[in-house]
Amino acid sequence: MSETTGKRVPYYRNVISGIGVLIALIAALNIAFLVMVEMTSDHENPYVGIMAYAVVPGFLVFGLLLFVAGMIRERRRRKRTPEFDMAWYPVIDFNNRRHLRNFLLTVGFSVIFFSISILGSYKAFHYTESDAFCGTLCHEIMHPEYTAYKASPHAKVGCVGCHVGEGASWYVRSKLSGAYQLYATARNIYPRPVLSPVENLRPAQETCESCHWPEKFWGAQLKVFNHFGYDETNTPRETQLLIKVGGGRATGSKSGGIHFHMNIDNEITYVPADRQHQVIPYVKVRSKKTGKVTEYYLQGDAAMTPEQVAAAKSKKMDCVGCHNRPTHIYWSPDESVDKALLSNAIDRTIPYIKAQAVDVLDDEYKTTPEALAAIKQKLEKYYSENYPDLMQTDRGKIDQAVKATQAIFTQTIFPEMKVNWKVHPSNLGHLYSAGCFRCHDNQHVAKDGRVLSKDCNLCHNVLAQQEGGRLMVETPDSVFTHPVDLGDMQDMSCIDCHSGSSM
Ligand code: HEC
Ligand code: HEC
Ligand code: HEC
Ligand code: HEC
Ligand code: HEC
Ligand code: HEC
Repeated sequence: MSETTGKRVPYYRNVISGIGVLIALIAALNIAFLVMVEMTSDHENPYVGIMAYAVVPGFLVFGLLLFVAGMIRERRRRKRTPEFDMAWYPVIDFNNRRHLRNFLLTVGFSVIFFSISILGSYKAFHYTESDAFCGTLCHEIMHPEYTAYKASPHAKVGCVGCHVGEGASWYVRSKLSGAYQLYATARNIYPRPVLSPVENLRPAQETCESCHWPEKFWGAQLKVFNHFGYDETNTPRETQLLIKVGGGRATGSKSGGIHFHMNIDNEITYVPADRQHQVIPYVKVRSKKTGKVTEYYLQGDAAMTPEQVAAAKSKKMDCVGCHNRPTHIYWSPDESVDKALLSNAIDRTIPYIKAQAVDVLDDEYKTTPEALAAIKQKLEKYYSENYPDLMQTDRGKIDQAVKATQAIFTQTIFPEMKVNWKVHPSNLGHLYSAGCFRCHDNQHVAKDGRVLSKDCNLCHNVLAQQEGGRLMVETPDSVFTHPVDLGDMQDMSCIDCHSGSSM
């Protein structure tokens, strides 16, 4: 008789299993609701995703485990009670209809549950690869990178396209370092700013080159540079440069021009002296065809001996050696205000507006709200004091300029994370940061006396140049005429005077 009672009352009739079922049920309902929210809303919310695919399923599994644990505990309890007189393991007899039914139910449930779990893990995997996850979950930390990315040519390329790439091993690597990052975030010990270069950035061959074909022959590309002066009339200046991009190696041709450094026919390695690779004391170029090696040593204060070079860690040049800001582009105030003036977001008839806007953007601020308030206050004060008539008659222009300047600040300068154009210099040109001149400065000398040339026509030709409507160069192919006569400062580096902010 006691046997039958022991079997009739199912094992799951106990408090622990009951709580387990309750938790699992609430979790399942939550998941259903969150998945619905995620599917119906048009923009990705990182919190919904992490709740639906990571946190709540955790509770669901916990609930189910609790349910099973409760059953095991109950069985043990009954076994210890002599009146039940039970065998060690449950006796399953498929001839018993009840046994068969319970067995089939358990198997059926497990199959369904695991199928859903697989779908769920896939969604979770997909989700941790999404831009919303990478860019906004740790809102404050990734805010600068995400904002800059959203306004760049690669805004539609996922973060993982460049930071993870294809293949399982890099996925695991990125998730391991991601786990540490979550921990650093939770404890608030992450670095401000987040540093680059990214030490374990995947080589460009496996990321950039999955979309860009390095052999492509670009030929020369025309690029127009527009600037506005720091004078009362914001004098417009325009330079048309024919940039000799060249190419890796198109059929029948050899690599040449700027894309000569493409690791196709030639391999360039260098040894940097600083973390951000802004000073490069040693450069080596090896021709893959002939095997010829040329080594260039920087002369002067930062020079390194061959022994020091041999002991140092070297870096192979790839796309990111020049295109280090393909997406996280932090424009300098000089560049941003030029763009705003060019597109008429800021009215160029406002006297000294270039100088004033750059000046307020360049000041030190602790927080973004503080900066936005100060931009408004300083610009209004300047124009009330110096151009009271303008403030009276054309107040709207000033208000618009204030708004545009504030917008530049929120898009490009991030005081909370200490990120701005100075922290992340671009290596593509040479006007606002050393860029190409890190190597091409006439100071890197080979044994045979050759130098990495700074010749103004090596990389581009000036096709036309004008200032305030006046033509500065008339013959194509000529060299850039500097707006201000540099005299004996001709050989200085551009960045000795140009820093991206007021001069
Ligand atoms: C087109 C390729 C590309 C995409 C897309 C991309 N990044 Fe980057 N990211 C880079 C490169 C290149 C660097 C700089 C590497 C270096 O200097 O070593 C970088 C650097 C970073 C850094 C270090 C700080 C810095 O600015 O140098 C962070 C953080 C970062 N990326 C986050 C993200 C996030 C978040 C996304 C998606 C919202 C993303 N990245 C999308 C290419 C990319
Ligand atoms: C998933 C594909 C993809 C990956 C990965 C990718 N790019 Fe791009 N890239 C593009 C597309 C698409 C464009 C064209 C965007 C446009 O013109 O609107 C582009 C544009 C560019 C441009 C021209 C930018 C401009 O100002 O017009 C450069 C330079 C560039 N990519 C370099 C890189 C580098 C360096 C990397 C690796 C760090 C990289 N890309 C990774 C797809 C990709
Ligand atoms: C000795 C200091 C100095 C050096 C070195 C220098 N510049 Fe300038 N540059 C100036 C000044 C001053 C102006 C005028 C700014 C103004 O008042 O508008 C100027 C203006 C310019 C402009 C017009 C941009 C604008 O904002 O109106 C360009 C382009 C320019 N320089 C390019 C270069 C390049 C390229 C180099 C390096 C080859 C270089 N400069 C080196 C001081 C310098
Ligand atoms: C030596 C520096 C350097 C290296 C290395 C380099 N590039 Fe470039 N690349 C340039 C310059 C300079 C331009 C001209 C565009 C400019 O000035 O904005 C350019 C232009 C481009 C463009 C065309 C941009 C446009 O405006 O349409 C693409 C795409 C590009 N590079 C991709 C790559 C890829 C992919 C790699 C790696 C396989 C690479 N580059 C390696 C310097 C470099
Ligand atoms: C890490 C050092 C380094 C940097 C940075 C660098 N280069 Fe070079 N560059 C070299 C070396 C080395 C050579 C080959 C010199 C030789 O022929 O011995 C070279 C050659 C060139 C050539 C001549 C190619 C030919 O057809 O012979 C051009 C053009 C060029 N670079 C443009 C650029 C531009 C533009 C940038 C910046 C976007 C740049 N380089 C940045 C090291 C560098
Ligand atoms: C090693 C290659 C290289 C050499 C040498 C070089 N440049 Fe450039 N320069 C570039 C590249 C690349 C850009 C385009 C940068 C960009 O796309 O933003 C550029 C841009 C410029 C611009 C336009 C910048 C702007 O924002 O208005 C001027 C002006 C200029 N160079 C002047 C010179 C002068 C003057 C010299 C000789 C002292 C010189 N360059 C030597 C590679 C070079």
